[in-house]
Amino acid sequence: MSVGGVKIQSGGKPGSLSGSDLKTEVVVLGSGPGGYTAAFRAADSGKKTVLIERYPSLGGVCLNVGCIPSKALLHVAKVISEAREVSGYGIEFGEPRIDKGKLLGWKDKVLSQLTNGLKGLARQRKVTVIHGTGRFISSNQISVDTQGGRRIVEFESAVIAAGSQAASLPGLPDDPRVMNSTGALELVDIPERLLVIGGGIIGLEMAAVYHELGSRITVVEMLDNLMTGADPDIVRPLHKRIEKQYEKIYLGAGVTGVRPEKKGLVVSFTGAKAPEEEIFDRILVAVGRRPNGKNIGAENAGVSVDEQGFIPVDKQQRTNVPNIFAVGDITGPPMLAHKAVHEGKIAAEVAAGLKSAFDARVVPSVAYTDPEVAWVGVTETEAKQQAIEYGKGVFPWAASGRSLSLGRNEGITKLLFDEKTKRVIGAGIVGPNAGDLIAEAALAIEMDCEAEDISLTIHPHPTLSETVAFSAEMFEGTITDLYAPKRKTGGR
Ligand code: FAD
Ligand code: NAI
Repeated sequence: MSVGGVKIQSGGKPGSLSGSDLKTEVVVLGSGPGGYTAAFRAADSGKKTVLIERYPSLGGVCLNVGCIPSKALLHVAKVISEAREVSGYGIEFGEPRIDKGKLLGWKDKVLSQLTNGLKGLARQRKVTVIHGTGRFISSNQISVDTQGGRRIVEFESAVIAAGSQAASLPGLPDDPRVMNSTGALELVDIPERLLVIGGGIIGLEMAAVYHELGSRITVVEMLDNLMTGADPDIVRPLHKRIEKQYEKIYLGAGVTGVRPEKKGLVVSFTGAKAPEEEIFDRILVAVGRRPNGKNIGAENAGVSVDEQGFIPVDKQQRTNVPNIFAVGDITGPPMLAHKAVHEGKIAAEVAAGLKSAFDARVVPSVAYTDPEVAWVGVTETEAKQQAIEYGKGVFPWAASGRSLSLGRNEGITKLLFDEKTKRVIGAGIVGPNAGDLIAEAALAIEMDCEAEDISLTIHPHPTLSETVAFSAEMFEGTITDLYAPKRKTGGR
């Protein structure tokens, strides 16, 4: 059996339970980043813990069909792209020859290292793992349908970490050439022409992979910008680069119908600049994700689930039922692994009687495209909408020695500051490795750093991290690596 691209093995697994019912202090439903973190933290806090997962491997979407496989393929895409780019500096590698089987084998090895690692970590902590589909039958019981039959787990506290699944579009044909992110990661083939519906993070990451592997890409996005969570100036360098690489990017456009034919998928569009019809070999649907809140019998436990399937929680990750917590994608956006992990720890600690609560100010977002796009805290768009009095420091990477030595000049680091307190309130970074650089801005926001705290921190040279300090100097008017007019009130 295969669900969401993950094969369910038949037969019992070593360590799986069979036989009688089970009583535990903490049960965790779902073994993604939120679930395994909650289970491990609960066990480390001295609680007898059971972790329920319907698929044979632990790690959820992120490790099996999300963050990790996509980043493995994006790494390969980057290598191909860089090898091509250095031909401009006198180094020729020739066209890449792609052995798809070997590439998938390598990707799967990365995944199994991580998922087997989780299995080992569960074993070390004596967390009981049950493979099967769980469903609440009351506020202190979950039934689990396993290969070996139905089990009933009685619990004192439960953590719901059942995650999300790809959203689909109504009216698309049931045709194997129409795929979601899980299908796209399987690289069944490298289509000559790929249509990506949705210019969000998944759409643009997977487009980057298929482009470098040889597909001609078209992206169709219903809004007027790509990746609308980030400020347009931070997305622009990515947009400019990919519009040269891809066949077409249609903004403010949509798909009205897909007709499967032998020669390809005939797609009709709406949108001023989109054509009436075009033919593609494959379609990737990347129009968001839906929470799994409606599929776990939450109503039997009295847990409130909203219309979309999200489970509302308070700052201690508690649902409306005091002994039942929820974490990760199922609690609402942003649907990101690091948010799930953070929430998983809190839920487990509260269940173990500790005084924990979610008080992180910000959750950083990163698109691992080329260039990477990263943002954290207040965006400029939000600052304007909320009439926040802000100032900004923007450093163009065209003036960064490290960026130029990587052959790249399009990056931007932008820091936003509270105009009165000079504290950093947000950041947007675009450029190679922007995803790593954004962590400094996140720390600065959490630590209430002022512009000076950042600019007076000595950053190593030559690194891209200097651009963070330079942005603070741009705000202060103390920059020497560029000429910038002095701020009236800035400077030290
Ligand atoms: P999930 O990872 O969805 O795990 C939920 C688990 O619960 C699953 O294993 C599921 O099988 C299990 N489950 C559900 N219902 C039941 C049931 N009834 N019984 C038993 N088990 C059940 N995020 C990032 O931060 N960085 C990235 O780079 C990134 N890349 C991504 C790339 C792709 C292609 C996709 C699709 C997502 C990506 N994400 C990324 C998002 C990230 O994967 C999710 O935010 C994260 O996995 C959420 O973790 P979670 O624990 O809430 O749920
Ligand atoms: P998304 O919400 O980021 O983007 C979906 C895009 O599709 C939006 O821009 C939306 O306007 C567009 N869209 C919706 N309906 C459409 C239609 N009918 N026609 C054309 N365009 C349409 O969702 P995506 O990319 O599917 O990713 C889901 C989530 O997974 C992300 O929001 C993120 O939380 C997580 N993720 C995170 C990654 C990371 O952190 N690097 C990588 C991949 C996914």
